[in-house]
Parts: sequence; structure tokens; C-alpha cells
Amino acid sequence: MSNLVLYRKYRPQRFSEIVGQEHVKQTLTNAISWGMVSHAYLFSGPRGSGKTTMARLLAKAVNCQGRGEGHFEPCNQCSSCQEIMAGRAMDLIEIDAASHRGIDEMRELRDGIRFSPTKSKYKVFIIDESHQLSKDAANALLKTLEEPPAHAIFVLATTEIHKMIPTIISRCQRFDFRKLTLPEIVKRLDFLCQAEKAKIEKEALEIIALNSGGSLRDGESLLNQVLTIAENFEGDRVIKAPGIKELLGIIDTKIVGQLVDFISERKGAEAIDFLNKILEKGYGPQQFSQALVKYLRQGLILKIGLDSANPVLSGLTKEEEEKLGHQIKFFEESELRDILKLFLEANNKIKYSPIPQLALELAIMETIGAGE
Ligand SMILES: Nc1ncnc2c1ncn2[C@@H]1O[C@H](COP(=O)(O)OP(=O)(O)OP(=O)(O)O)[C@@H](O)[C@H]1O
Ligand SMILES: [Mg+2]
Ligand SMILES: [Zn+2]
Repeated sequence: MSNLVLYRKYRPQRFSEIVGQEHVKQTLTNAISWGMVSHAYLFSGPRGSGKTTMARLLAKAVNCQGRGEGHFEPCNQCSSCQEIMAGRAMDLIEIDAASHRGIDEMRELRDGIRFSPTKSKYKVFIIDESHQLSKDAANALLKTLEEPPAHAIFVLATTEIHKMIPTIISRCQRFDFRKLTLPEIVKRLDFLCQAEKAKIEKEALEIIALNSGGSLRDGESLLNQVLTIAENFEGDRVIKAPGIKELLGIIDTKIVGQLVDFISERKGAEAIDFLNKILEKGYGPQQFSQALVKYLRQGLILKIGLDSANPVLSGLTKEEEEKLGHQIKFFEESELRDILKLFLEANNKIKYSPIPQLALELAIMETIGAGE
């Protein structure tokens, strides 16, 4: 398993391999089975949640020559499926709007689209990060979407739907992808480990999932790191939870959350005791305090009413976000700002303090005092 990149090796090749996004999967596979596919889709949602994967599966299914009537799964055997899997299909055009903000590409697209697909039923255009198209390019695209030829299917993908022009949105069938939940991520990672014959504790997978922030791409790349490092050790050792945290230098969001629990309950002594126990386990004070500041910032963002679509919150799973949402109810917005400032200052002092965690301890005491 050397040099492998898990997410390349195991990119889902059938709809049944996609975890979560049930609502999208259901509607899309029905449309494929019934032969009622739209000409324009908009996939919005957080990074690493399966937008591009789903778009490619759609392309593969509609052009599959071996797909039986009333079925939606691509056969993965026919030449069209094979070409798409190898990334050399002429009739699947992927445009990354982040790197080509591109009026030229859009013009080309508009001109090229009149030509029928070279050998397949449909020409499928996947436009990634479509919110980044320049104004001219977006207008050119809009024109195309107004009268798409029967042989064309567009899938626009975006992580920032609020930046899309409404006229484009209204021309597409819209699907909102969600952050993947902890069990969904674990399920997929578990599948990958079995495929790789890697022995790993369930709890270890959960830690990885917790640190993926709802993105399977991040989860898979963390697992990749773990497996690569573990490979360097001899024998068929089982990969265990505590080892993983060290390996990845991860501060578990759960741990940070627990400290914030004590703070919100104004339990100063417990908070400091908890902090010391964590640091005794070998976590660096600086590392911990950075994780804490990040977490509090996410709390503040939630408090001022922004929701999970906000990129600052993209590091949290749904469960973590719920917990944080509950915790911030104990604070006024101004209080939260003050706490964040205190811990930010503490973070900056750690490096120069004779006792590194002292700055954190003082911040905890001040925070709790501030609430009285
Ligand atoms: N729902 C999912 N089910 C199974 N695997 C997934 C899922 N989402 C992501 N993955 C895995 O993560 C990788 C990246 O996913 P994908 O490229 O589809 O994400 P994306 O939503 O397009 O992200 P981005 O917005 O960053 O482009 C996939 O190759 C796949 O291995
Ligand atoms: Mg993508
Ligand atoms: Zn096929």
C-alpha cells in the first residue's frame, strides 16, 4: 500500500458507495432510472462532501452503454465507463472555475456545445467552484443555460452558493449537499481499511472522523497519513486510538469542548485541573491554546447568527456544531468576545512564559471571574 493516495484509489464508482447525501442520491438516481435527467444541476455544499464524485457518477450513468433499463448504477465495464474512470472521456468536460475564471472557456463552451457528443449520448459539463466565474463568464454560461441543447448536461458545483448569481441558480435543479456526519465518515473509513486490510480500532477511526470537519476528503487524507506511518512499523499491529492523536498531533475538538463546558458552568477549579491533566498527557500548551481559540472563534461566529455554510465553521461536524451551539447559550455575545480576547492574549504569552500553561490558567480564572 505504499505511496497510495486513498481517495484516488477508492473514489466511489457506484452510487451505492456514496455515504450520506441520501436526499440527493435518491432524487438523482430516480431521474436516471426513469430517463428524466435535467439539463442543469447545481450542487452546493461544503468541501469534500461528494459533489464532484456525484457529478462524475451522473455523467457515467447517463452515458453508460451497459446500464439496463430502469437501472441507475453504471456498469463500469463498457468503454464509456472505462474512459470516464480513466479520466480521458471526450464527452465529460470538467472546468475548474477557480483557476480559469474564464470567459474564454465559457465562450468555447458556448461554441463547442453546439456540436454533438463525440460518441456518447450526452456531453456533460462539470463546472467546479462555479461561484468564481467572472461576471462575463457567468453571463455567457447563463445564455447557454437558457437554451441548453438536448445532448448537454451541466453540473455546477460550488462551496459558496451565496456568491452565485440568482439567475443562474434559478435555471438549475438545486441540490444541497451536507457536511458528513461522524458515523457516515467512520463507515467510509472502515470500508477503506477493510479494503486495505489495515487493522485499526473503531475508536481510532472515530478520532480521525472527528478531525475531518465533515469532509471525507480530509478524513481520507488523515487516514492515509496514519496508514503510511503505521506501515513503517513492523508486524500486524493494530492501530490504536491514543497513538493516532500523537501521530497526527491532533487536539481533539471533544477535549477543547470539555474545557469550554467547565468554563460555561463557571467551574474554575475543575477547568484548571482538566487543563493540567491534558497537558500532562503530552499535548503542547501552544497547540492546545490554538485549538481553543479556534473553537471559541467558531462559537462567536455561531453566536452572531452565521450558520454552518460559513467557512469558519467548516472544521466542525454536525455533532460538534450542535454542542457548541448549546454552549454559547451560556454567554452573551460581548462576553464571548472578551473571553476570546483573553485566550488570544494568553496564546501569545505562552511562548515567553516561564510556566507555559500559566497564561492559560490565568485566562481561565479571569474568564470565570468575569461572569460573576
Ligand atoms: N459522500 C461521499 N461518499 C463517499 N466518498 C466521498 C463522499 N464525499 C467525498 N468522498 C471522498 O472524498 C473525495 C473528494 O470528494 P469530492 O471531490 O466529491 O468532494 P467535493 O464535494 O467535490 O469537494 P470540493 O468542494 O472540495 O471540490 C472523493 O474522491 C471520495 O473519495
Ligand atoms: Mg469538487
Ligand atoms: Zn458502462
